[in-house]
Amino acid sequence: MTPNELRKKYIDFFVSKGHKQIPGSSLIPENDPTVLFTTAGMHPLVPYLLGEAHPSGTRLTDYQKCIRTGDIDSVGDALHLTFFEMLGNWSLGDYFKEEAIRMSFEFLTSKEWLGFDPERLSVTVFAGDEDAPRDEESAAVWRSLGIPDSRIYFLPKEDNWWGPAGETGPCGPDSEMFIDTGKEPCGPDCRPGGCSCGRFFEIWNDVFMQYNKRKDGSFVPLERKCVDTGMGIERTVTMMQGKKSVYDTEIFQPILKAVGDLASVVYGENEENDISLRIIADHIRTASFILGDDRGVKPSNVGQGYILRRLIRRAVRHGRKLGIDTNFLAVPAQIVIDMYREPYPEMGRNASVILEELQKEEERFRQTLTKGLQEFEKLVPNLLKNPQKMIPGRVVFRLYDTFGFPAEMTAELAAEHGLTVDREGFEAAFKKHQELSKQGAEKAFKGGLADHSEMTTALHTATHLLHKALHMVLGDHVRQMGSNITAERLRFDFTHPEKMTDEQIARVEELVNDAIRRDLPVTMEVMPLEKAKDEGAYAFFGDKYDADVKVYTIGDFSKEVCGGPHVSRTGTMGHFKIQKEQSSSSGVRRIRAILEK
Ligand code: ALA
Repeated sequence: MTPNELRKKYIDFFVSKGHKQIPGSSLIPENDPTVLFTTAGMHPLVPYLLGEAHPSGTRLTDYQKCIRTGDIDSVGDALHLTFFEMLGNWSLGDYFKEEAIRMSFEFLTSKEWLGFDPERLSVTVFAGDEDAPRDEESAAVWRSLGIPDSRIYFLPKEDNWWGPAGETGPCGPDSEMFIDTGKEPCGPDCRPGGCSCGRFFEIWNDVFMQYNKRKDGSFVPLERKCVDTGMGIERTVTMMQGKKSVYDTEIFQPILKAVGDLASVVYGENEENDISLRIIADHIRTASFILGDDRGVKPSNVGQGYILRRLIRRAVRHGRKLGIDTNFLAVPAQIVIDMYREPYPEMGRNASVILEELQKEEERFRQTLTKGLQEFEKLVPNLLKNPQKMIPGRVVFRLYDTFGFPAEMTAELAAEHGLTVDREGFEAAFKKHQELSKQGAEKAFKGGLADHSEMTTALHTATHLLHKALHMVLGDHVRQMGSNITAERLRFDFTHPEKMTDEQIARVEELVNDAIRRDLPVTMEVMPLEKAKDEGAYAFFGDKYDADVKVYTIGDFSKEVCGGPHVSRTGTMGHFKIQKEQSSSSGVRRIRAILEK
């Protein structure tokens, strides 16, 4: 079974069970300061899991591009991926444990659908603790479907609880489904979730969203219980194709073969080469999806751009390790583009951006890579004499600053020589030299969920007021190109050919503050996208929309297609102030603004 077939089957199955297919979201979250990338199918649905009404109803299904860079350094083994696709079905206060598990079982084992032998299926359920009870209910459903107790494992929170990835948000116990690959047990503790020998392959997770975790660590029961599920496409295809590793499937084989040909090596013959080939295949697949996203990110030294840079540079270095000395990233990237242009049309639309940006970054890095590696090799003998066998932070920083070596790459090179790096020293040097990563690339990677604090919500409403005011002051050519909100400020990118004058900025502030002063009500209505457009609602053209959308109206002032949430009246938002108006890219301006209380 191919990924295309699996995607279709899954959606068909859940549509046949009364679910509405919704479009997946961008890889770059819009109003969420706590994560760099979309990490799961539920991520764009957080407000709905917390109680907002979804325009498409209470049963939803989709496929979603995801990136998890938390274990970027583990990539190279046969299991980890930084980019993957997740299939999902959701109940927003509709069905709960019993129906969710029954549907999962039917889809997995029915001959009409995936047809896995039920004998190969093991499941885990939550063992219970002071925050939530032991999940006997899910276990009973599995038993009623014929899964014996010997294949139902009760595990603690570390294994069987999902979310929130950040400090706060929806979460609950989960039940994970594993396929037995038939490998010999690695020992007496060989069991799902208990060992990582690869015998049990997790392919699906049903999460029973029952709580909202608060900042103080307490778990508050949700008024409306929800189900969030995630099935990994790459992993499920691996099991359907009877392979042991995702890299053995037709998703990765063409990439591994093409890069292997460039290096005159064959995948599967030498473990060290295989690691490099896997790193290249994984990283360039991920980099292609980041560059191919309509919210386009370019390689840089902060946030998502830094992750992208790390991925590309690590791939180039491993290419060099394999003996590839010319620019080669376009080869794997083109395979990725062709493989995914159908389910993700943006990959085809943005193909030239993907290829050009990869080539530019490869070029930039190659110019200093050889020199940097020579410099590094020169340092090694002395460092090995040092009893701590540690590369000082300032040296790691010099390699970064002068030769563009991401610190993680230096750490990897160091490990190859039995050395470590002084991370703290590097961080200190890094901070001192530049106010680089305020967003904290390292910190943000670990992931987290949306911060729907009051301030974020108010800034979100302020963004709508700003958008409208810009139209009034500058004209109707203004189009939203991007928006990013943290608990401190909003940032709004829009098309406009020139710098705004001081008078224009003052006028926009005045219009927004006037709308706030008038204490306008904010109302929401669900309607077909076409009707919303006919009524003059603004929509961000970079987004994909459901057939039915939510339209937020702010008094007589603004109307915009948006997922929410928003304040209910504008009166308490505070005083709107534009801090900066600058160029973002050619023909695009960027405003940074705050609400002063
Ligand atoms: N959100 C759940 C996961 O990612 C389904 O595993």
